[in-house]
Amino acid sequence: MKKFFSRLYSYLIRIDDPKIYNAKYPFKLLLKIILRSLNIIRWIVAYRIVGKVDSISEFYSEIHIFWYRGNEGHTQQSIEQTYFLSKISQKKENIFEIGFNGGHSAETFLKNNISTKVLSCDIGWHYYSKFGEFYLKKKFGNRFQMIIEDSKTLVPKLSENTNKKFDLIYIDGGHEYKDARDDILKSKELAHDKSILVVDDVVERNMQHLDHSNSGPTKAWKEFLENGFVSALEYLEFTDNNIYRSAVVGRYN
Ligand SMILES: C[S@@+](CC[C@H](N)C(=O)[O-])C[C@H]1O[C@@H](n2cnc3c(N)ncnc32)[C@H](O)[C@@H]1O
Repeated sequence: MKKFFSRLYSYLIRIDDPKIYNAKYPFKLLLKIILRSLNIIRWIVAYRIVGKVDSISEFYSEIHIFWYRGNEGHTQQSIEQTYFLSKISQKKENIFEIGFNGGHSAETFLKNNISTKVLSCDIGWHYYSKFGEFYLKKKFGNRFQMIIEDSKTLVPKLSENTNKKFDLIYIDGGHEYKDARDDILKSKELAHDKSILVVDDVVERNMQHLDHSNSGPTKAWKEFLENGFVSALEYLEFTDNNIYRSAVVGRYN
């Protein structure tokens, strides 16, 4: 009986939008109702505990949202990658991030420097992004802003309407070639001449690690390097916690 309930619990907390999307009616409807009901409980708990936790991972754990295999990954799953993001974002006052997901990389930037402001965007596929936004808003107030919109429309709008420039541009959004290409290309309008660009999931060595998640950004980055649109400053691989990640640091020319 105990085993049955723990399996049921484990199944229920793994219900997410991709799972609902792939299901067929009437099961789809049932999953939708369960997720919405669970989220009502999560919001109640979130309001109660937000002042009592010190990190976004603690917050998620309290509201029973967990990252498991198959879920979209985040940077705090790798200590090495988190350390790298802390280092590269030091003394960066304004950071723009494409690909908020659960807010783990945004938290790293915000914790690192007491005056850093982060603007994140996400297409909003994941129900948990709203919880991450809530947590970071509560903890960091107006140093943090998140916009739910496709970067393809948001980035041009930002550059036309605000003329805002960022010291660090972190691209970790759509991983298809076209998405990564557009993000790198269009974000140039948000850069000043000293801005640093970090593109996640670009592989430059150890090509055996190329897969569906990194071949798009890798191809886009290579093309921009070859045509002189960007220059590379550093290449990094992170291999702790049994996961392989990589990223490049560069500048716009
Ligand atoms: C790998 S996750 C980002 C992880 C996050 N930076 C972290 O470490 O916590 C990629 C995110 O990009 C978002 N995304 C995908 N395509 C996008 C697009 N066209 N515009 C904005 N966000 C997008 C997805 O919804 C997903 O949350």
